[in-house]
Amino acid sequence: MTTAATPEPTVFVIFGAAGDLAWRKLVPALYNLFLDRWLPEKFLILGQGHRQMTETEFRRHLRQGVDQFSRRGKTEKGQWESFAAHLSFVASELDDPRAYTNLAKQLAALDQEWHTRAHHVFYLAMPPGMIGTVTRELAKARLHLERQRSRIVVEKPFGQDLASARALNLTLAANFEESQTFRIDHYLGKETVQNIQAFRFANAIFEPVWNRRYIDHVQITVAEQVGVENRGHYYDKAGALRDMIQNHLLQILCLIAMEPPISFDADEVRNKKVDVLRAIRPIAPEELHRFAVRGQYGAGWIEGREVPAYRSEPNVAPDSSTESYAAVKLLVDNWRWQGVPFYLRTGKHLQARISEVSIQFRPVPHQSFPPAAMMDWRPNRLIIALQPEEGILLRFEAKYPGPSLRLAPVLMQFYYREAFRITPPEAYETLLLDVMRGDATLFMRADQAEAAWAAITPVLETWEAIRPTDFPNYQAGTWGPEAADDLIAQDGRSWVMPTFLQCQEDLAICRVTMAPGS
Ligand code: BG6
Repeated sequence: MTTAATPEPTVFVIFGAAGDLAWRKLVPALYNLFLDRWLPEKFLILGQGHRQMTETEFRRHLRQGVDQFSRRGKTEKGQWESFAAHLSFVASELDDPRAYTNLAKQLAALDQEWHTRAHHVFYLAMPPGMIGTVTRELAKARLHLERQRSRIVVEKPFGQDLASARALNLTLAANFEESQTFRIDHYLGKETVQNIQAFRFANAIFEPVWNRRYIDHVQITVAEQVGVENRGHYYDKAGALRDMIQNHLLQILCLIAMEPPISFDADEVRNKKVDVLRAIRPIAPEELHRFAVRGQYGAGWIEGREVPAYRSEPNVAPDSSTESYAAVKLLVDNWRWQGVPFYLRTGKHLQARISEVSIQFRPVPHQSFPPAAMMDWRPNRLIIALQPEEGILLRFEAKYPGPSLRLAPVLMQFYYREAFRITPPEAYETLLLDVMRGDATLFMRADQAEAAWAAITPVLETWEAIRPTDFPNYQAGTWGPEAADDLIAQDGRSWVMPTFLQCQEDLAICRVTMAPGS
């Protein structure tokens, strides 16, 4: 949420530049920043990879990625060529000290050529196993010394559990200051996720009702239609809890539950989020069945296409007990949220790709209307739609037109695309620009990453200790295992049918007649 301008002259070093992340996300994002004139004039993307590649091959490879994944679609020749002039590649091994001394020399030479002291971003687009080696070698080559000008960026997964996340933090801290360390959670770069703060803290009318007195419960759904795709190697060791809940869903929860910050200073915002994570009530192992449900997809149908079971996916163990679905109920033990459950759910190969936060308000304290008027009555609900639709909806009651007194739920709706008529930037565009500007507000601080692991550790450990006996327990293309419905039903509630799914068909009708969920 920065308001600053173009970054200083920058060399953006990508370790693992021939890999998938650079191809799909990083370079398309940098290309769009370039087209939108956010990059400084003196700018170089220096790719490192262990495979020998000529500069021409490297550029061609990246162009294919941009053509496929840029929000703008295919590149235009002239624009690509101006951008490609800022791309350079060097083949080296990550554990070869000479690669780092050469890098230091190259960076010094660029400073001379540019007549400036450029900022250096070291982006580690690689599995976590190599983070230690790269940070140590960077430090040995004295590339960490400029506290204000050099930064290191680390991707998720940030560890496998609390212990490994702590070890990673210690490795990073041994060589770089926390202020130089940027841990990515790409959900924090999404416009709609950032908008939660704008919605909560730039408006006076919601804050007075944003607490246990008025809110009955909160649901956070991040449903995916994709399966594990080609990521079986990684995913089968991770699972939905590690892959999505520990980071993306908990970060959304933090934004919904945090206290208003005094300012948008990076540490102030992150302090407030850490407070939320620390207030999450630990789940006792013997109570776990009342608080968490896991699932794994069997074969099924997604949009008319038959898809295989999780256990038949490439690089997944045929008897895998990894969960592709997780639902948890969390309680936040503080004054604001005491007794208000937060239900989180996420899964792969679900019926639709949809991410929504649903905030359900309590019923009115006294019903003055006659029972006949109340047949369709529903409590107020605020929906923050994160993707693919982006917007905010408020469900409230209105009088149904006609001579008899009858109430009906209606929706007040805000859509990004209608209100602003621009294509918002991709999450990585926002995040990479913030790294270059040195603004860490949207990145995970060391204690934040650890507190998020601590919050899910009881679930993680219990699931690891007890092998599931019912996998696969949901069919691909459905909304997940039945046990997840039971989890919420035991509290007399049900999962909200994602609102935009109901609205997609006919917005006009939806506006008047929809009574989403119950
Ligand atoms: C990643 C997970 O962090 O987020 C993936 O590793 C998941 O498994 C992805 O598919 C979802 O991101 P988005 O932006 O598509 O919702």
